Formats: sequence, C-alpha cells, structure tokens
Amino acid sequence: MNSALAEELLGRRLIVCAGGGGVGKTTLSAALALFLARRGRRVLVVTIDPARRLAEALGVAPEGNRIVEATRTSAGGVLEAMMLDCRLTFDESLARHARSKEEFERVRTSHLYEHVATALSRTHEYMALEKLHELHHDGTYDHIVLDTPPTRDALGFLDAPQRMLDFCNERIFRWFVPEDEGSRLLRFGRERALWLLGRVVDQGNLGPIAEFLGALAGLFGGFRERVRDVQATLRQDGTTFILIASPGRSSMHEALYFGRKMRDYGLRHRHLLVNRVFDYPFSERPLPPLEALFSQTLGLGAARAGRLITACEKTHQRLADLARRDAEQLAALASALPDTMQLTSIPQLDLEPVELDAVGTLTDFLFGTIPGPGEEP
Ligand SMILES: Nc1ncnc2c1ncn2[C@@H]1O[C@H](COP(=O)(O)OP(=O)(O)OP(=O)(O)O)[C@@H](O)[C@H]1O
Ligand SMILES: [Mg+2]
Repeated sequence: MNSALAEELLGRRLIVCAGGGGVGKTTLSAALALFLARRGRRVLVVTIDPARRLAEALGVAPEGNRIVEATRTSAGGVLEAMMLDCRLTFDESLARHARSKEEFERVRTSHLYEHVATALSRTHEYMALEKLHELHHDGTYDHIVLDTPPTRDALGFLDAPQRMLDFCNERIFRWFVPEDEGSRLLRFGRERALWLLGRVVDQGNLGPIAEFLGALAGLFGGFRERVRDVQATLRQDGTTFILIASPGRSSMHEALYFGRKMRDYGLRHRHLLVNRVFDYPFSERPLPPLEALFSQTLGLGAARAGRLITACEKTHQRLADLARRDAEQLAALASALPDTMQLTSIPQLDLEPVELDAVGTLTDFLFGTIPGPGEEP
C-alpha cells in the first residue's frame, strides 16, 4: 500500500497528471481516479486525449463535454468521465464572460468568429484548465482528476494560462476596447488601428471588422480575470500535480526538469510515478537445470535440447539485463529527486491496460496487495 500517495490523493480536490508524451498520463489518471472511487469518493476524470484512450480504458464513450458514468464501487463511490471538447469549452467560456447576450451574439454570428475560435480553442492546455476551474467551483465532485493533453513540451501546459493572458493583453485587442471604456491614449490607438485597417480592407468591410474586434476585446476583459482565477486554483493547497515519467534517461531528465519548473511556479508536486518499469523477478536467480527437463522429461535429443537451453539462457539474460537497466535508472532518479518528492514505480503490464479491469490492475499495484517492481511477493 502506497500510503503517502493514497493520503495525498485523498486530501486533494484537484489532481493533475502531468508528464511527457506517451508516458501513461491517461492510463494512470484513470487508475488514480478508480482508487478514489473505491474509497467511496465521487470522482470525475477529465481528459482531452484525442486518441480517446481514457474512454477506451473506462469503457465509456464520453463526448461533447458530456459526463458519463464509468463505474460505481461497492464502497459507494462513483467514477465519472468527461472527454473535453475544446471548441465547446471556448464558446461556453466566451458566452459566460460576455457583458451581455447581445454582445456575445454579435461576436458569435460574425464569420470572423469561426476563424478566431477555431484557432484559440486549439490551445488545449488552457481549455482543459478552464474547464477544471469551472468543475472545481461547481462542487459536485469530491475529486477531479485531470489527464493533461499530449504536448510537445510538457511545460507548455504550465505556461498556458500566462500565454492566454499575454494574448488577451495584446495591443490589438486593447485598441478595440469599446470607445466609452478606453483611455484617450487607447482611443488614439483605436483610431490609428482603424486607419491602418482601412488601408488594407475596403471601407464596406471595415465597420463589421472593427465591431467584431471591439466586441471580442470586451469579451476578453472577462476572460482575463478568469485566467487569473485559473492560475490561483492551480496554486492553491487543494491542488496537487502528479508527475509521470517512463524509465529511460530522457523521460526521467524531463521529469526532474518539470519538477524544478513546478517549484518555480509554486505548484504542489509530491509524487513522481515511473510507469512501465520492466520487472523480472528471476534476475538474480540461476535457471533451474534445464537439461533434465528437455532430455529426460520431454525426451528431446541432445542437439535439440542444447539449442533450447541456449535460447532459454539468452532470454533469461536479456530479461535480467532489461530489469537491471530499469532498476539502475530508477535508483539514479531517486537519488536526484528532492527530499520533498516520493518516487513510485509501476510495472509494465503484459497486456495493455485498455479497459477498466486492466486499469484496476494498476490501481491494485499502487494501492492494493499486488507487489510492485522489485518488491517481494
Ligand atoms: N503500466 C503499463 N503497462 C503496459 N502498458 C501501459 C502501461 N501504462 C500505459 N500503457 C500503454 O501505453 C500507451 C500510452 O499510455 P497513455 O495513453 O496512458 O499515455 P499518455 O501519456 O496519456 O500518452 P499521450 O501523451 O499520447 O496522451 C497506451 O497504449 C497504454 O495502454
Ligand atoms: Mg493521453
């Protein structure tokens, strides 16, 4: 039983699983959420995984921000799942922040909106955080587990709110704040921007474009506050980041770097899970006498028995080497990790955990009775 990890999860309302591409964020988000549901908690796991692996793993097909029940546990817990629709989240978010319904409608019905919304809703990272914030304040769930999107750069996720803020603060939007709200300087900027726009856009289109940008700028006013709220939610004590890595030098270096950045950002991170660790419990044991098995019990000729014995020895050696390599890398990582962080290794399963039962096996490894890599049964 990994009691430190269990305690951390049970004590936090927002749990963000973060790490590099393909390390097992989606799978482990489901496994951690399942643990909480087994403890009788009401849990929502949120993913924006375009590969739909979480849906697969949970055996549900959530889409369009719809929340679907994945399982109920005997302890009275519930595990629900949501596949985040970034575009829908963007539309909902703008609608919420519009000062008036008319303002939002004016923006939404513009043919320019389609381009801007499509481009911005691609900021998956921010949209995920935005939804998380909303669900968190809604209070329906004891815990929300967020599976972070595959990013080229895992840090992109942490920077997302700031990038969104920078975007909202862009001068082009400030120029177009509605006239009655702008300072003299901004009004001057607006006139100049319109003049510039007028040189490239014919006069017939100028009005609608300026109006669109003006209304959009108004919407971003509310958005800015929201981004700051999102940033605050991530930093609060009830939020924790679970770092995930796979064995292998580059993934582990990335995890250490990611941990340092989290410290700089003031984000709580106490656990690093190293997933898909190769375990071979017979590494240190010699093979049993195979000669007797092949020639006497199975009655094979000396030549065939000899070939089989060589193949068995090679395989044994290879598996032992792989397990040793992972164990050495884990030891190196453990010694480089700050004292505030705990490392947990999770074994490579024989079968891919693509359904709830298999995800449950990982939960058992983490919190149940199944021994982890390198542990005695
Ligand atoms: N412990 C494990 N044993 C065996 N297979 C695993 C294990 N953990 C994850 N996998 C498999 O590894 C693959 C990647 O896992 P997963 O999709 O959870 O990673 P991810 O970090 O979410 O990836 P991405 O960055 O693309 O979103 C999947 O095919 C999954 O089934
Ligand atoms: Mg994923």
